[in-house]
Amino acid sequence: TQANLSVDDRLLKICKLLDANVDYYNWVGFYFKNGDKNELKLGPYVGEPTDHTIIPFGKGICGQVAVSNENFVVPDVTAQDNYIACSITVKAEIVIPIFVNGENIGQIDIDSNTPDPFTEDDERFLEFVCKEVAKMLV
Ligand code: SME
Repeated sequence: TQANLSVDDRLLKICKLLDANVDYYNWVGFYFKNGDKNELKLGPYVGEPTDHTIIPFGKGICGQVAVSNENFVVPDVTAQDNYIACSITVKAEIVIPIFVNGENIGQIDIDSNTPDPFTEDDERFLEFVCKEVAKMLV
């Protein structure tokens, strides 16, 4: 039963499911607001280890979503000035915020090695995933 799993165990399972089932999801992870600091902290993830375990608000795609409260779909990471590269194989990225009681408390971040792979279906699907995650956090 899922009842014995910690929140982090469940989040890791979600990462594993997404990574295993969508061929163009090549790095899947969660970042969360780090206490009351204006920065994100890396949570559970699947994919290559990243040096970017702390990201200041405003920095990179993730940091921008922390302040915009909006989905950010990047078809081509080389076209972004405010971008934090984690791996040279990454071509595209999608970040969807997670809201708890209307507050942006974190995000799901997915990198793809395929250029321009993300559609509105990915946005709608990942918004649904983020809503389910939000329910686990209240
Ligand atoms: N590329 C992200 C940094 C996180 S890595 O993708 C895991 C960004 O620009 O915020």
